[in-house]
Amino acid sequence: MSKIFVDACFGKETPYTPVWMMRQAGRYLPEYMKVRAEAGNFLNLCHDPKRAAEVTIQPLDIVGVDAAILFSDILVIPDEMGMDLEFIKGEGPKFNDPLSTQEDLDRLLGGEEAASKLTYVYETIELLREQLDARGDEKALIGFTGAPWTLATYMIEGQGTKTYNICKKMMYSNPELLHKILRKVTEVVKLYMEKQIQAGIDVVQIFDSWAAAIEPGKYDEFSWSYMVEIAEYLKEKYPHIPVIMFPKGIPAFLDKVYGNFDVFGVDWSTPMSLAKEKLGDKYVLQGNMEPCRLYSKEATTHCVEVIQETMGTKRHIFNLGHGILPDVPVENAIHFVKECQRVSKK
Ligand code: CP3
Repeated sequence: MSKIFVDACFGKETPYTPVWMMRQAGRYLPEYMKVRAEAGNFLNLCHDPKRAAEVTIQPLDIVGVDAAILFSDILVIPDEMGMDLEFIKGEGPKFNDPLSTQEDLDRLLGGEEAASKLTYVYETIELLREQLDARGDEKALIGFTGAPWTLATYMIEGQGTKTYNICKKMMYSNPELLHKILRKVTEVVKLYMEKQIQAGIDVVQIFDSWAAAIEPGKYDEFSWSYMVEIAEYLKEKYPHIPVIMFPKGIPAFLDKVYGNFDVFGVDWSTPMSLAKEKLGDKYVLQGNMEPCRLYSKEATTHCVEVIQETMGTKRHIFNLGHGILPDVPVENAIHFVKECQRVSKK
């Protein structure tokens, strides 16, 4: 039996349109908070394959989604390249020694050396593969990476940013160095995703969460071309593994989207009808409910019905247009998933 989620990624007929939520394993679930407390903190949880597998599975049972997404973080990649990641309570991720020169970059591990340090991720996937196969419910396992650009924003700024001024200073005054950073990260990510596939994931998603920080005319040069290179490297070797691209917040780039991948993730600021018109023939579309609609069941149902009307029952995967927020009531998340499955049932 093939997995409905994988079938949907390839645009095949499915009994209903599958659904999952970005950030579905996380703080809105009391069961997640319990396991995180046992692990001590978030990074320990990422490093603990047994517990990471446990929280990956939680949303399948609690919320009823059609795919699990590996529990980890995009920032474990620069961490293992040698950047020393910390999560500071109330502030988010932090690298104490951000990159600003060629020497800083030269000190980081690259390629196979960095990718082979992420063993806890591959062990989590192996455990999940066993557990998911044993359940026999044919739910897919999504592995993921950050896009080189999104990773580089943290590596250069040292933390999250509203202005991206340090990376943009580099983009306009020393683009060669920014390209060298993106190149080194790209080479690690290719091998990292290949190892995730070998460990047992069914689908790849590349998150470019901070795509919108780049002016549209520069987006291809500094982000999309690297994402496509990763996607095409994987598609060439593993054509049976669907690749989902999620560049957040760049509707102006829709006309220029190219590359060999399977699913285009539509963020909540881009109308689904526009994405369908521009990309619907070439790619399966995923998305795109505004995550804050989850605060109201009525607002959720309305949006699910509108998306359903726009997309029909083919070449679509339901999702949010970005991650679920920590204060969303669990019952509203369950409602979203049920509504997606209800309105699309054939
Ligand atoms: O359920 C899932 O989606 C899988 C797990 C997952 C996490 N992070 C767990 C997490 C995934 C896919 C990510 C990706 C990620 N991490 C992205 C791209 C996706 C997106 O949302 O745009 C980014 C930009 C990061 C970096 C990151 N990690 C930030 C900025 C933060 C702090 C902000 C926040 O939400 O707290 C994290 C922490 C993080 N990653 C948490 C979780 C569950 C919260 C940690 C906690 O438990 O306190």
